[in-house]
Amino acid sequence: MNQDKPKAYVNTIGCQMNVYDSQILAGLLQNAGYEQTHDPDLADLVLCNTCAIRHKAEEKAYSFLGRFAGTRMRGKRPVTIMAGCVAQKEKEKAFVRLPYLDLVLGTQAFGRFETHLKALAAGNTRIVDIEPSENIFEGFPEDSITEKFQVSRFVTIMQGCENFCTYCVVPYVRGKEKSRDPSAIIQEIEVLAQSGVREITLLGQNVNSYAGNNRTVSFADLLHLVSRVNKVERIRFATSHPKDLSTDLVQAMKELDKVCNHLHLPVQSGSNQILKRMNRKYDRDTYFDRISALRQACPDIALSTDIIVGFPGETLSDFQQTMNLLETVEFDAVFAFSYSARSFTPAAKFSDQLDEQTKRGRLNELLNFQEQITEKKNKAFIGKNVTVLVEGDSPKPRDGLIKKNKNTRQMFGRCDENKIVHFASDQAQIGDLITLQIINAYPHSLWGEVCESD
Ligand code: 5AD
Ligand code: SF4
Repeated sequence: MNQDKPKAYVNTIGCQMNVYDSQILAGLLQNAGYEQTHDPDLADLVLCNTCAIRHKAEEKAYSFLGRFAGTRMRGKRPVTIMAGCVAQKEKEKAFVRLPYLDLVLGTQAFGRFETHLKALAAGNTRIVDIEPSENIFEGFPEDSITEKFQVSRFVTIMQGCENFCTYCVVPYVRGKEKSRDPSAIIQEIEVLAQSGVREITLLGQNVNSYAGNNRTVSFADLLHLVSRVNKVERIRFATSHPKDLSTDLVQAMKELDKVCNHLHLPVQSGSNQILKRMNRKYDRDTYFDRISALRQACPDIALSTDIIVGFPGETLSDFQQTMNLLETVEFDAVFAFSYSARSFTPAAKFSDQLDEQTKRGRLNELLNFQEQITEKKNKAFIGKNVTVLVEGDSPKPRDGLIKKNKNTRQMFGRCDENKIVHFASDQAQIGDLITLQIINAYPHSLWGEVCESD
């Protein structure tokens, strides 16, 4: 470590888009002369990139920053920055709980981050920038990509959302939909591919409505363009809205070998009445039709979804329809959340809010039910061969089965269907694509053996 350079700690809460944004912010900090540290207590600058999607995530941001900028702070303390969605939502209000906060940096203000850093260095404090920007993708230096070698990387292709689902704060904190210029996207992916990245996940709140280059490039077109980049072996994307899942996109998923055999398609609820009150703009039959079309075009496609349990007015019968939808579709993975009322959103003002106990009870019931489905779906892989992109060492050795391999390095990768597969090999390298035969399955991962030909 360089003793002279000031140190910055970046904490990321929330979704994949925040992970991407934090990389940009970390790159801008590096350009401003900071070195990254992994210990916030050693940092001269502490930045928290925040998430406002649920109350819990927002509390996490306040409690983390409270250690450095809270009411009980005394004496020497680092420069503190709240960035992202909570910053955009809270504005000056952030100072009530964090009186020593130095900068509130909104979701569209990253292009002005360097200017604010200079102002902070000159002794200014309590700066708030939540202004919108014409082009939020402009002004990021190419070398803002700071992390060393990684095989899989996120690339943001659009920002914002105009769907206004009645529970969701995103349209209020991320602003209008803006599609990034396709040539800038491809250029970034080419740089990543040259540095060893093999898998790209294209990100946006609603990637299906991507409309680049003055609406002349659709999301399906973009998938074709990314497919042509040399050395990119795999393409994933998130998140898709069922109402915008076009036949062009299904066709592109079928045609393009590099596009993975997995789709995350949030349904949120299985009840038509609740879907309507959520303003999702589709009903359960339309959702089933989309799934059928997908499964027809891409047999064995792995599917995952998001569910909100305990939306205002959700009756037991509504909840049972959601359970029935899970039983019918048999998703490979489900991310389920208890409804959390958010400022600005219409649903927060609905009079028929459910109590916490009911919401928690339904969430647990749903998670337990889905766990059996996920395990069943994973077990169906036993005996099959899958190709995984090797990502690194397994965090901890697995069960007794693995003991027989205990002197061999244990690694993991993801298969096309986005399932984590652990295996033992002394030859495999991070970034390799290798074929494994699945010999065991667990609720959250698979175990495979390297096939002889590899
Ligand atoms: N309460 C609970 N979950 C929410 N999500 C979005 N807003 C809320 C909320 N107010 C969930 C949705 C979305 C995922 C990213 O977060 O399921 O798809
Ligand atoms: Fe939120 Fe709905 Fe937009 Fe997704 S589509 S970000 S849930 S408003």
